[in-house]
Amino acid sequence: PIKSSAASDVYKRQRVNILNKSTNNFSQEDLKKLQFKYEAALQVLKTHLEILIKDYDMSNHTKSVEHVNARIKSIDSALGKLEKRNYDITLENLEEHIHDMVGVRLVCPFEDDVYEMVDLIKSSDLLQVCHEKDYIENPKESGYSSYHIIVKVPVSFKDDIEFIDAEIQVRTLAMDAWAALEHELQYKSNGSVTKRERDELRECAQEFRRIENKMLTLKKGLR
Ligand code: GTP
Ligand code: MG
Repeated sequence: PIKSSAASDVYKRQRVNILNKSTNNFSQEDLKKLQFKYEAALQVLKTHLEILIKDYDMSNHTKSVEHVNARIKSIDSALGKLEKRNYDITLENLEEHIHDMVGVRLVCPFEDDVYEMVDLIKSSDLLQVCHEKDYIENPKESGYSSYHIIVKVPVSFKDDIEFIDAEIQVRTLAMDAWAALEHELQYKSNGSVTKRERDELRECAQEFRRIENKMLTLKKGLR
């Protein structure tokens, strides 16, 4: 059985409080409608990406994506993010300021696959690219690396077409493994990580990268 630590209980209680405090700001019906829009956008985006990738892979006799993850950010974590950034807790602010309610992650074998997939996404006739961040070229202070693209996904509803923001993260298996483990450690420590521990986490990211590059060199030798 998984034991829940006192720290994570505090964390969960804080989140519940945000949701309770803000239920006066919007109706349950409006919330349901918004959630439906995000679910629709996730379906469209995920299906579109899967088709693009399959088409690309068939033409190139390759397998450029190991797996695809898709998720909707929970409402309470989105409201928590609004609160942290000092916005009023409203659905209008959520729609306007949170661009990663809809998220798809492509996990690729190697770094060259990541850039192929980024180009593929940019060439999509359906998606409109708004913003991109290359944390592979420029890893974050934490050691985190990944390629992030914010896009607008067109979704055709019965009355109109809406363009809904989504975040696509493209990363390698090694980057994904590091991010998952680091996230787990941050969660367990409830944010109280020392400078020394942060330095070690960054070193771990570099180590993952070194091994991945070594295997990429092997792959190139096989061609
Ligand atoms: P948020 O980080 O989501 O508040 O938005 P932002 O505008 O700062 O975007 P950023 O590109 O920094 O990060 C967005 C997402 O990338 C996060 O929600 C995480 O999924 C991931 N991410 C960013 N930094 C880290 C990190 O240091 N560790 C891990 N594990 N994931 C990270
Ligand atoms: Mg961030």
